[in-house]
Amino acid sequence: MSLTRRQFLQQTAATATLSALPLTAQNQHPGSQPGTPAPGSLKSVSRNLPVGCCVAARILRTDAAYTALVKQQASILVAETEMKFGPLRPTPTTFFFDDADYLAHFAQSNNMLLRGHNFVWHRQLPSWFATYVTPANAQQVLVNHINTVAGRYKGRIHSWDVVNEAIQVSDNLPGGLRNSPWQKVLPGYIDIAFRTARRADPHALLTYNDYGIEAEDEASAKKRAAVLALVRGMQERNVPIDAVGIQSHLTAGPNHTYAAVPGQLAGGGEGPALAKFMADIQSLGLKIMLTEMDVNDRDLPADIPTRDRAVADLYASYLHTTLANPAVVALLTWGITDKYTWLNHEGARKDSLPERCLPFDADLKPTPAFFAELNALQGK
Ligand code: G3I
Repeated sequence: MSLTRRQFLQQTAATATLSALPLTAQNQHPGSQPGTPAPGSLKSVSRNLPVGCCVAARILRTDAAYTALVKQQASILVAETEMKFGPLRPTPTTFFFDDADYLAHFAQSNNMLLRGHNFVWHRQLPSWFATYVTPANAQQVLVNHINTVAGRYKGRIHSWDVVNEAIQVSDNLPGGLRNSPWQKVLPGYIDIAFRTARRADPHALLTYNDYGIEAEDEASAKKRAAVLALVRGMQERNVPIDAVGIQSHLTAGPNHTYAAVPGQLAGGGEGPALAKFMADIQSLGLKIMLTEMDVNDRDLPADIPTRDRAVADLYASYLHTTLANPAVVALLTWGITDKYTWLNHEGARKDSLPERCLPFDADLKPTPAFFAELNALQGK
């Protein structure tokens, strides 16, 4: 569903109009109570599907224009780092909740849903983890962590990424499991984490979240198969799981394919393999969330109109494919403005130009990707 040249030019013109208004004016239209969607915002066109982004407490505290944009556009948020194990756990016996509490209060006071991210991951573990956590105490550490954190926000979390990125096929473990620090000390950590999370917060949708399952290529196909087997196995063991998070970190350019021609993949395919995977997840009775979407432009030429068009086209085609599945219950981008994207730190462009990967550019002006997302949310 790529943009026609006429659509692209129309939307570029609309960009100028939308961004002509100072953000504060847009955000203070009559009746703009917390949670009242600003006309033309992502959440105003997406009444039934929560739409939003990850946010950072340190930015919300210091950047008023960013904060106004988040309030204007998002109906669901997730913490970029503040609810991860490392930031929450300065020592084995203490918790630091200030930043996570700030985000929980911000979401609640602005009538926004809040995702929790994440209880278990192989990254952003505290420095004490490697020496303190052993096979003898690992289950107690994990259960205590989840009980404390999930218990603190009980009833206020839309969905928890209970386990993040547990599949790494190249590690050659059974089931394609990642040989992560948690796997090393507690091989049954996935089931333990989900069972503990259900007891600690029965209200939250328990989600398994992963990346690298979006593209129409063999590596992604292998990872999709492993994720499907993982969640099927959990269901067979009566482990509580409600949803799969598809992170949706995409890369634009000719080397990356996200919508196959039937039969293009080995073994054929009924159209995009991603759509088939999502249908398989749905058939297990699970919900789906697009949890961290952005489109990396590092393989594209420096020319901004060329980059913006390719990025917007990929937003349009990817969301056309994924939002067609009725099991999708949330769409979040990983950040809302290029001004703070992680992609300028991990996976940056070789020419060091700032990435243009999100719905709003570094000047907080809507990009063609914004209009692609806005159109996709309206089924256009
Ligand atoms: O807060 C410290 C600061 O005190 C210190 O001075 C600074 C320099 O060392 O580091 C700061 O912490 C950084 C943190 O982001 C907050 O900015 C960490 O070093 C840095 O590693 C961390 O990166 C985050 C990364 O996850 C690891 O947690 C990225 O911002 C975040 O975008 C990225 O998000 C992940 C998702 O959680 C999972 N899916 C992939 C996605 C991208 O990697």
